[in-house]
Amino acid sequence: MKPSPFDYHRPATLDEALGLLQAHEDARLLAGGQSLIPAMNFRLAAPEVLIDLGDIAALRDITVDQAGNLKIGAMASHADCQRSQTIQEGWPLIAEALAYVAHAQVRHRGTIGGSLAHADPAAEWPALCVALDATLTVTGPAGTRNIAAVDFFQGVYATSLEAHDILTAITFPAWPSGRRWGFHEVSRRQGDFALAGAAVVIDTHDGQICSHAKAVLFGVADTPVALPALTRRLERAELPPAGFGPDHEAAEESEHTFFQRCDDLAWFARTAVEPRSDLHADAAYRQDLIQAVVALALRQAAGASATKLTRSAQAPRSEGPVPADKIMVNGRLMESVGQRANAHATPESQRNAPANPSKTLSRITLADHARDNWRLTGTHIGCEHGVCGACTVLIDGESARACLMFARQAEGRAVTTIEGLTPANGELSDLQQQFVAHHALQCGFCTPGMIVSAEALLRENPSPTADEVREALSGNICRCTGYVSIIEAVLATARLRQGETT
Ligand code: FES
Ligand code: FES
Repeated sequence: MKPSPFDYHRPATLDEALGLLQAHEDARLLAGGQSLIPAMNFRLAAPEVLIDLGDIAALRDITVDQAGNLKIGAMASHADCQRSQTIQEGWPLIAEALAYVAHAQVRHRGTIGGSLAHADPAAEWPALCVALDATLTVTGPAGTRNIAAVDFFQGVYATSLEAHDILTAITFPAWPSGRRWGFHEVSRRQGDFALAGAAVVIDTHDGQICSHAKAVLFGVADTPVALPALTRRLERAELPPAGFGPDHEAAEESEHTFFQRCDDLAWFARTAVEPRSDLHADAAYRQDLIQAVVALALRQAAGASATKLTRSAQAPRSEGPVPADKIMVNGRLMESVGQRANAHATPESQRNAPANPSKTLSRITLADHARDNWRLTGTHIGCEHGVCGACTVLIDGESARACLMFARQAEGRAVTTIEGLTPANGELSDLQQQFVAHHALQCGFCTPGMIVSAEALLRENPSPTADEVREALSGNICRCTGYVSIIEAVLATARLRQGETT
């Protein structure tokens, strides 16, 4: 299946985007596109007009105001937030939760605003916003208004956004000193949507006595679920001393006090919600998961477990400015899709042109465009809805799924395909050589996507651990199941690049 034709617009300002939204009856906003484009590929969504917010730079800012509140522009990507030193140091619960959001390719393209507006019950951002009392800023025909996160989510994929509204920013209140926090979720595989998850914050008077707490579940009902009855039970509870951990001298004593209470509270949580059943998990299983994730999040808040992942703050290499009407493909400037549409509009080209060339060409995904028009057939197409990673390319140096991007979105950007990672003289790159040396490919279908994803990882993190390689490749499926060899090949390349000679 391919998306239906649509008119594509990429406004440079918020006012322009608002004008377009009001001018077109059947228009949809394109934020990161990581949920909308699969829906369009399946023709579950078929908007007449797509308004891409990707060029509105002001919507990507991450700032802290004078009162210490964190303001994240709605078009900040998950990866922007994950790399943000401000968030890592000041709002650690957000940094922790982002390690659970999908796969690297999706985190590079997906945005906080897109995730919140999509309102998937199993997504992390909605739960974080409710747990941290965030305020969502929305601009529409009647002006700008603020909506408390708890009022924003109305149901499955349903929010309080009106037809012509644009979500522009999300504000998280200042992080109080002495706050403890925990986050845990369970999904079928790394990066999948949560079957159940919990976010917990515990504020303290003196670092140890709970003054206020909040616990929010997600993935278990239509919207994030706050657990006020549970958190009331936490008030005045004494937590273990700050810095407590499995090796702390107070570990044994604390096992008999707060940790015992965590287990009781988690048992209470499982009775507080009637979870839904779906094809991924039935209600009874979800009830068990609720108990588990609440217990683990509470224990983490008390200091008993390490954080899930730490990540490099280093930004990826960007390929530099590209003219807005061109696409830089493996270092060469190529004509854009818009230019092709204009060419079709000339009288000489009319005979074989589609009825509405601009509309018809807009629907071409980057993966199809790379294969059919640039003849770069190393970009493989497996699932066409963002699951297999076979189509992975680099966009301005960041990995992305080419089936979850329209070619028009690449205008003004640099695209690197597997062909661009191969030395010009036809030899194999060091990473490719290691794939051969470690027998890291069998049928080879997944290999280009694996290598592009691995190259993106090595550029961002030159000496990854095996766990970091596994996480970075979790969005790439190998049907021949050659994962062990693939991880070996990536680690060997990293060692060689670090100067190891054998
Ligand atoms: Fe793009 Fe599977 S993720 S083809
Ligand atoms: Fe066959 Fe991975 S080598 S799919």
